[in-house]
Amino acid sequence: MLDLVQNKILEFINELDDKNSNEIYSKLTHGKMLRSRLILKIASSSDQAIELCAIVELIHLASLLHDDVIDNATIRRGVKSINALYGEHSAIMFGDILYSKAFTKLTALNPKISYAISNAVTKLSLGEMLDVRLSKSLNIDFDLYYDMIYKKTSSLIEACAYSAAILVDKEPVKFAIYGKNLGIAFQIVDDILDITQDEQTLGKPAMSDLKEGKITLPYLYYYQDSDDNAKEYLKSLFKVELDSTQKVELKDAIIKSGAIIKTTQKVSELISESLEAIKDENMPELEEIVVAMTKRAF
Ligand code: FPP
Ligand code: MG
Repeated sequence: MLDLVQNKILEFINELDDKNSNEIYSKLTHGKMLRSRLILKIASSSDQAIELCAIVELIHLASLLHDDVIDNATIRRGVKSINALYGEHSAIMFGDILYSKAFTKLTALNPKISYAISNAVTKLSLGEMLDVRLSKSLNIDFDLYYDMIYKKTSSLIEACAYSAAILVDKEPVKFAIYGKNLGIAFQIVDDILDITQDEQTLGKPAMSDLKEGKITLPYLYYYQDSDDNAKEYLKSLFKVELDSTQKVELKDAIIKSGAIIKTTQKVSELISESLEAIKDENMPELEEIVVAMTKRAF
């Protein structure tokens, strides 16, 4: 079914009638397409569901194009990022093309869906702006971190679940709660993997969050639970390009502090809340999605 989504995306790209766009698009690799998997599990593969998946994937791709410019990232999903290949201007403009095309297609869907998805994109953008602001100095406020990851990552997943439920006349609010908690858990898993996995597995540099100034949940727990020496140690590495020995030392220190265990427990709590919301729906396949999104290695 995911190939139907990829074909639909290509159909949208071809509608642009622009060779340059086809060339840039050919350099993009599809990720795990988790947002589409989620929509298809809830709404099956009707034409409208496939259309919604393609719209959401275009929005997601656009946001990553912009995010790689903002983060100065040269690798995405194991291959060169668009900003690295064609420069920042092209990455920004192609991102604009992708998400405005997605919005054009969105206007043909149920107004409740178009409202939910476009409102999520505003939150996505607010989340990204907050992420950049929080990265300027060492943030130790858990609430700000949670607000940021809800907006940056979870809001679109929440809107996907809500919208998919509307397509099949299920209770959208229950599915929104499911998607919201799942989305927050998904981002926290991303934040754990940045610390625990290597570059090859991730398809992007490992331990880059701290270098980018991102104090994610494992770092927040580490900082909160550590003595003054360890606090100074973390501060001394903030926004620093680490060599491989420093990366190993830091990873060991974080694991030893129990921060990864605490963070993993938080993920489990969020998963429980997520599944609690749709427990009466009798849809065991939604558990599979939770597993795919949270028990992953990259
Ligand atoms: C990845 O974060 C970034 C996002 C999930 C959202 C980015 C949102 C924008 C740039 C707002 C603009 C939106 C549109 C539709 C153009 P990350 O840097 O933590 O993850 P990464 O390690 O995968 O880069
Ligand atoms: Mg990034």
